Amino acid sequence: MTEWLNAMNDPFAELQNYQQAALAAIQNADSEATIEAVRIEFLGQKKGRLKNLQALFGKLDKEQKPLFGKQFNEIKTLVSQRLEEKQAALSSPVTALEAIDITLPGVAVSPGKRHPLTQTIEEFKDIVGRFGFSVVEGPEIEDEWHNFNALNIPESHPARDPLENFYLAAAEVSSGGPVLLRSQTSTVQIRIMEQTEPPIRIVSVGRVYRPDTIDATHSCMFHQMEGLMIDTNVTMAQLKTVLSMFARAYLGDGVEVRFRPSFFPFTEPSVEVDMLWDGNWLEIGGAGMVDPAVLEAVGYDPEQVTGFAFGLGIERFCMKRHEINDIRRFYENDIRFLRQF
Ligand code: FA5
Repeated sequence: MTEWLNAMNDPFAELQNYQQAALAAIQNADSEATIEAVRIEFLGQKKGRLKNLQALFGKLDKEQKPLFGKQFNEIKTLVSQRLEEKQAALSSPVTALEAIDITLPGVAVSPGKRHPLTQTIEEFKDIVGRFGFSVVEGPEIEDEWHNFNALNIPESHPARDPLENFYLAAAEVSSGGPVLLRSQTSTVQIRIMEQTEPPIRIVSVGRVYRPDTIDATHSCMFHQMEGLMIDTNVTMAQLKTVLSMFARAYLGDGVEVRFRPSFFPFTEPSVEVDMLWDGNWLEIGGAGMVDPAVLEAVGYDPEQVTGFAFGLGIERFCMKRHEINDIRRFYENDIRFLRQF
């Protein structure tokens, strides 16, 4: 009450009192709770000491008002700044040195590692880079044109069966046509040929999705590396050479690879590629000469250019290299497994 009466007598002295009291209170605050109480007392919007000072303003003479207003603003800014600094200091975490008890015994933490499949993908890209192939990307959600039509897979083909694919019903509504999680990386061949003139020499690595029954060599999500080479005189002999060299580069000179006649709608002739593992042949990829119908679908002249394409199962290469007997190990996130690579 006395303070208020004094202030009525000398508003400028009251400004000084306010400043001194506020700065002292800020300095003495030793916790987030106390600094908050100081803020409410000295800077509170609804009531508090700042409001009392403001109330004085109306009672000043006309000549006193500008000077009082100037000092009031300067003091308010100063107090606000100091308060913010103190708030920051009280809320900042303890320094690293304060937080660590250096008397405790140490705990060894092994550094993280890249997943074996990631390591394999990096190595694949490195090898094919040395063969002159560049790496391109393609989307995992595809339309029917890129996943089927342009790959010469007719409407009636069993590969289009909804039970053989992951169609995305909700996306279909917004995109205007059926879309699905791509079932093969061959979709990227089409996208690249649509956008590029020959010659082409690319690979694309990524995930593909199929509702296959899961077992030791099948997963419903796995990785493929697609390769495509288009030029004026590409031959099947070149395809076999590239794939044999690739298998030897990743699996070592001792690996035995065979090419088995097969069928894909988008290649003619077509082969399946197998490798020998513990006396059994395991399929590691499909390949062939790009079918003229596919070249036409993307606007190329099959009389002018030829090409080969291949699609390799990345998991199976990695399994053979590291003697992993079950594809499911890659996706279980068992740290004991992952630490071994
Ligand atoms: C294809 O996907 C063709 N697009 C390959 C191709 C590309 C042929 C270009 C001609 C030209 P296929 O369905 O056979 O073909 O799969 C290729 C490889 O993927 C297989 O050899 C196998 O290594 C791997 N693979 C297939 N299904 C699975 C699965 N469910 N889990 C793990 N790997 C699989």
